[in-house]
Amino acid sequence: MKTFTKIAKIYFSPSNTTRKIVDEIANKFEGTQEEYNLLSKSSENISKEFDKNTLVIVGMPIFAGRLPKTSRDKLTNFKGENNPTIAIVNYGNANIGDALLELNELLKENEFNIIGTGATISQHSIITDIATGRPDNKDLDKLYKFIEQCKDKLKSEKFNNITVPGNKPYCEYKKVPLTPTCDESSCIFCYECVSSCPEGAIPDMDPTETSPDLCSACTACIFACPEDARYFTGELFESMKTKFLNNFSKRKESEFYL
Ligand SMILES: Cc1cc2nc3c(=O)[nH]c(=O)nc-3n(C[C@H](O)[C@H](O)[C@H](O)COP(=O)(O)O)c2cc1C
Ligand code: SF4
Ligand code: SF4
Repeated sequence: MKTFTKIAKIYFSPSNTTRKIVDEIANKFEGTQEEYNLLSKSSENISKEFDKNTLVIVGMPIFAGRLPKTSRDKLTNFKGENNPTIAIVNYGNANIGDALLELNELLKENEFNIIGTGATISQHSIITDIATGRPDNKDLDKLYKFIEQCKDKLKSEKFNNITVPGNKPYCEYKKVPLTPTCDESSCIFCYECVSSCPEGAIPDMDPTETSPDLCSACTACIFACPEDARYFTGELFESMKTKFLNNFSKRKESEFYL
């Protein structure tokens, strides 16, 4: 079996579930872990070429059937050298759209050798009543089986071209037209939300304001706020919630491809 000295984790994870999946995978392999968090401002300038001794694990959430635009752009700056790679898209029990295909194609173009890939399900970061608390134990058991299969594949060193569902051209980028509200009476002006925002949508000097034009509704500021002072509200959010509860409450399962 090919052995690795390093494990590179690359992820974008505003509400932290994609990060959890990536960590679960990485922790089942031996090697020094290095981390590339595409949410951080500093990741804008990362341009990285991995050496052959690195196993790469990539996790991206699905936004409106695609990879989130900002993190997709950042991911194109990572280049492989035929590195064995595990590629995961993580979604909120609604639709995968073309994101799984998009991630696989992007990584292949950048010389990553995908040995296993899949779409996992986690709590919906906007409509948190959907898939609440997932990934749960059932999800993790399925994930661990997949990791074992990836290990077997690495042992056998028999690599194949993996086919995944999705269409080209990919569905068009759609902005989710929601912007978090800040409850000024709860805000303690800690500025966590400002530093968590990947789009620069919250002004440095006034965390109670948010630019709807810049905001991608990613939810990072909501999950970063220690006072629960940020949340989605309003008519559009309520009608989206009703629609999602009607259409996407039935449990879906993760799917993996080797
Ligand atoms: C802007 C936005 C768009 C989303 N679009 C989808 C979608 O198309 N299909 C889906 O099932 N879930 C969708 N979700 C839910 C996320 O994919 C899901 O909650 C994922 O677990 C978030 O990952 P994170 O915890 O790493 O942020 C969307 C979430 C956001 C914030
Ligand atoms: S303001 Fe919008 S883009 Fe910025 S972290 Fe909050 S939800 Fe994401
Ligand atoms: S993270 Fe919450 S409490 Fe801190 S500045 Fe932002 S809104 Fe206020």
